[in-house]
Amino acid sequence: MSKVIVVIGAQWGDEGKGKIVDLLAERFDVVARYQGGHNAGHSVKVGDKSYALHLIPSGIIHPGKTCVLGNGMVIDPIAFFAEADRLAAQGLSVTPERVKVSSRAHLILPYHRALDHTSEERLGNEKVGTTLRGIGPAYEDKAGRRGIRVADAMNPEVLRSRIERNIEDANIIIRQYRGTELKPAEVFAEIAPLAERMRAFVTDTTHFINRAVREGRSVLVEGAQATLLDVDHGTYPFVTSSSTTSGGVSSGLGLPPQKISGVLGIVRTYSTRVGEGPFPTEMLGGEDEIGQLIRERGHEYGVSTGRPRRCGWFDAFATRYAAEINGFDTVALTKLDILDALDEIKVCVGYRRGGEDCESFPAVSQELREVEPVYETLPGWRTSTEGMTELDDLPKAARDYVDFISERIGVPVGLVSTGPERTQTILVRDSALAGWLEP
Ligand code: IMP
Repeated sequence: MSKVIVVIGAQWGDEGKGKIVDLLAERFDVVARYQGGHNAGHSVKVGDKSYALHLIPSGIIHPGKTCVLGNGMVIDPIAFFAEADRLAAQGLSVTPERVKVSSRAHLILPYHRALDHTSEERLGNEKVGTTLRGIGPAYEDKAGRRGIRVADAMNPEVLRSRIERNIEDANIIIRQYRGTELKPAEVFAEIAPLAERMRAFVTDTTHFINRAVREGRSVLVEGAQATLLDVDHGTYPFVTSSSTTSGGVSSGLGLPPQKISGVLGIVRTYSTRVGEGPFPTEMLGGEDEIGQLIRERGHEYGVSTGRPRRCGWFDAFATRYAAEINGFDTVALTKLDILDALDEIKVCVGYRRGGEDCESFPAVSQELREVEPVYETLPGWRTSTEGMTELDDLPKAARDYVDFISERIGVPVGLVSTGPERTQTILVRDSALAGWLEP
């Protein structure tokens, strides 16, 4: 039986998926992405080299693996080749044999970026805090049935006429709000050669991946962004525009749900969020100092945008919701060592609003802003866990913290990460994850 394992961030992103996906990628034949675009940012450290990945799946770091950019993605050809060239300059092989771009994926073009900027400016204080990469406008075009797909771009005349038509529309907004406009001929002149260069990478990835599964090859599916940024299940409207949860895998790759053999949640031992939007456990006011400490210790600055991330306590209530939506079989707990410096650690175990316990995760952002987190306080361990590789070596308080999280979110822990290096990892024996790592 072929193995198809999905890896998904359980919070608002930046849970440390990069390292875990990289660890797993070694044992899989194909690594695929199913949603999002270059709004993502994984950093993967291997020895003294560090690779920043935005669009290309992490499998690229491992020789012999095939990387799939699925139909559910939005692909900026400028960003794609900038990343491919950068990785190639670092010595990786980024060839059409190894990288398959779906003919059904949608393109992000310069007018999407301009529209993203315009939309954020218009929203002012209510802005989403997007990565300004054009992600939302590209998905709007897709849903509005005027998007330009990779396959369309393979025909220069189709590309030219679609660009003309779409820019005509986009300019109405851009002109009004920014006083400038885009020139279709210039955009076409920039994109056409890149589309031509992309031709060799273009594949019917739906067929490719289903065949791979039929032939018994293993597939690692790499989620980007995270559960609470999902367009349906996240903290709408402060979300990204794609289906980031495990339900998105089937549509974003054309892979039937029965083919998925397991779902791994990536759960960081504290919370962060970039951009705007409700964040119940955010460390503010008197706790700002702890937030700063975590930001510095955890290097909590965006890989894609360099923005400082907002930091907060672990939110078991939100993560339990994430486990419910995704069906996590097991979770990888990341960045445990970042908490080594704390005297005590709070965990949010529920929300109260208007004097009542919330039964489920609120659907409305304003309600989420109003909730009061209910905390339990656990003792810190004040000793280094960095680099530990055995559960039994953890100080008792750290072990208790791990067990507490697992119990509260209702999912067994398969791995604990104690540092950025591959080796700084505790793999829980007999866990589902340990099984997936077997050949
Ligand atoms: P967009 O995806 O650029 O439209 O941004 C929408 C929201 O998702 C913003 O709050 C971004 O900060 C957030 N976001 C997008 N990509 C990532 C990511 O890879 N990590 C964390 N947050 C992200």
